[in-house]
Amino acid sequence: MIYDSHTLQHLTHETNRLLPLAQSTPICADENDMAQLREILHFHEHRYYVLSAPLIADYEYDQLFKWLVATELQFPEKRTPDSPTLRIGSSLNSQFQTVAHLVPMLSLDNSYQPEDLIDFNRKVLELSGATQVTYCVEPKFDGASISLLYENDRLTRATTRGDGVEGEEITQNIRQIRSIPLQASFSDFGIKQIEIRGEVIMSKQSFDAFNRELSAQGSNVLANPRNAAAGSLRMKDTREVARRKLDAFLYHISYVLLDDTNNIQVQAAVAKGKQQLATHSGSLELLWELGLRSPEKEKRVFENINQVIIYCAEAEAGRDNLPYEIDGMVIKVNSIDLQDQLGMTSHHPRWAIAYKFKARQATTQLLGVEFQVGRTGAVTPVAKLAPVSLGGVTISSISIHNEEYIREKQLMIGDRVLIERAGDVIPQIVQSLPELRNGSETAIQFPTHCPVCKSELFKEETEAVWRCINIECEAQVIEKIIHFVSKDAMDIKSFGEANVRKFYEMGLLKDIPGIYTLPLDLVAGLEGFGRKSIDNLQSAIEASKQQPLHRLIYGLGIRFVGETTAKTLANPITHLLDYRNISEEHLMALEDVGKKVAASIHAFFSNPQNIEMLEQLEKLGVQLVNQKKEVPASGALTGKSFLFTGTLNQFTRKQAEEMAEAQGGVIVGSVSAKLNYLVVGADAGSKLEKAKKINTIHVISEEEFIQLIQTTQNNAPA
Ligand code: IVH
Repeated sequence: MIYDSHTLQHLTHETNRLLPLAQSTPICADENDMAQLREILHFHEHRYYVLSAPLIADYEYDQLFKWLVATELQFPEKRTPDSPTLRIGSSLNSQFQTVAHLVPMLSLDNSYQPEDLIDFNRKVLELSGATQVTYCVEPKFDGASISLLYENDRLTRATTRGDGVEGEEITQNIRQIRSIPLQASFSDFGIKQIEIRGEVIMSKQSFDAFNRELSAQGSNVLANPRNAAAGSLRMKDTREVARRKLDAFLYHISYVLLDDTNNIQVQAAVAKGKQQLATHSGSLELLWELGLRSPEKEKRVFENINQVIIYCAEAEAGRDNLPYEIDGMVIKVNSIDLQDQLGMTSHHPRWAIAYKFKARQATTQLLGVEFQVGRTGAVTPVAKLAPVSLGGVTISSISIHNEEYIREKQLMIGDRVLIERAGDVIPQIVQSLPELRNGSETAIQFPTHCPVCKSELFKEETEAVWRCINIECEAQVIEKIIHFVSKDAMDIKSFGEANVRKFYEMGLLKDIPGIYTLPLDLVAGLEGFGRKSIDNLQSAIEASKQQPLHRLIYGLGIRFVGETTAKTLANPITHLLDYRNISEEHLMALEDVGKKVAASIHAFFSNPQNIEMLEQLEKLGVQLVNQKKEVPASGALTGKSFLFTGTLNQFTRKQAEEMAEAQGGVIVGSVSAKLNYLVVGADAGSKLEKAKKINTIHVISEEEFIQLIQTTQNNAPA
């Protein structure tokens, strides 16, 4: 089945036409649309299963599929024999040999809301006649499914899922995966032959490394670790598969043949096996004991559906802490007898259901690019998108960073793009879908002049960013003021971005010192400013004059000076203007201040305009003197340096840093011999590796950090 580019364009157009209908109407009312829908689903299955190169997000596919299911349910006579709802999956790639699975590999029914799980439980109870059912819950690994056959303790065959009935024989490729043993002592449990299902996955870390490699070669990056895993299984060169660093979880035993030898020892082994195999959780334990990577540590067993629902919600909240992607949870009836009794439909087992997490990916169109000027003059391209809803938020623009990024992602105006929004992370464009171009797309032209002040843009050789270097550029001035008043800097509440822009446009505010001479009587005349809001504004401005010095330093927006460096800079001096006389070499002696940072700080304090601004601020009452904060007397953490890496479980990084500081600790930005404690959260990367090489650094977990804080608190003098 080959789709030419014309058909591909047409089917994509039709997908985009039908998707909003699928999302807004309960069933498909038009007969022609229904035929179209079937064709579209076949097309996207081919892209997904055969080519491992989907053109729409999974969630979008699911919605189209569910729409067809709902329509066919209402009008069974309209269901045609070729409906995608009637078969399990896909066609096969001719490259590998096709073999039949011992037991068909079914898919899972999907659910998206707690009510769906309550419904599932109700059906299970009804069908089984039971009053209470035990469930085993485990992650839904987002990878490519495989089936393994072990005979007489040896791995004899591995296959892809294929169309569910037959798969492709990929044993050689599977042998490259370290977590899949080539032999295991199944005979200890009286097992002669066993077919096991699982998922081949690629960790987030390996996936990122792999994509970096692809983009360095000028190839298109892959949308997600699942596509990478699925593609890898179909590689012709097994060495290439080994390089991809794949992993696997084995989560289901689909067939077992027990030894029927009359030997008493064998019979004892069989009895042991039977006992383990009586429940799903027992099967996972058995696999684990035999050295296969089952979700033994990840699984949880619950006695009722409400506990399952709570656990699924917790798992969704924690999904980003895992080193691999999961796209939901799988809920399975734990008793294998009961599973057999419940049986299956043509599509999925009745004893299991997938609870899918909120979608993170969607496709949309790149309509154009705007260029924004930031406070350091950096010009950032921002993609304007056809609005699309993702995880409950409508997305219509996304930063695309710089020229290099645009080149790497091969973006063009008019492209269809796959976008992603992971947890709290800012949305990103994952990739463009160049196959869907029709020739009307245009290149993204980077401006040569500042879009705001029209002065020429410059780029340093070592940088990817173009900058407007006119420090009077209106855009920069406004952004600098916005940064100065922001929460982490001077925290002038009720000032805010919108007000800065408004006051600037009206000529009431032209620079940072202007904040302290803002003509409040004129502001009071503006619409929306009552007596109370003026009072609030005035007291917030007044209060900011006494902010600790590090906040002022951070608020100045000196390049490369983040919150941590600002604290380092505030510490050793008595007055901010002391920095006029400090050399770059001296600056570099400070914790975390390297050559680049020192040069930037030095340049800032050598610029007469900046000095004038600071003097003005001081005259207006802003505190430039370092009123050193009191350090708790406990002494235990005083002067000890801390660095946090990876994702913390119980606090945000900022909270944890504040806790350490409250005990006299100092936060640093990088690993060096001066570091005392590296606190390691999930998914820690290069910092951890570096710290391991320096044996004076205490590498501690989040729990150990909490203990440390608690002990010092308890020991602190009252
Ligand atoms: S059980 C007969 N358990 O999800 C039951 N499937 O959308 C077979 N998957 O085709 C499936 N994690 O590829 C099961 N813990 C898990 C899973 C899992 C991921 C995949 C599997 C399946 C697909 C269904």
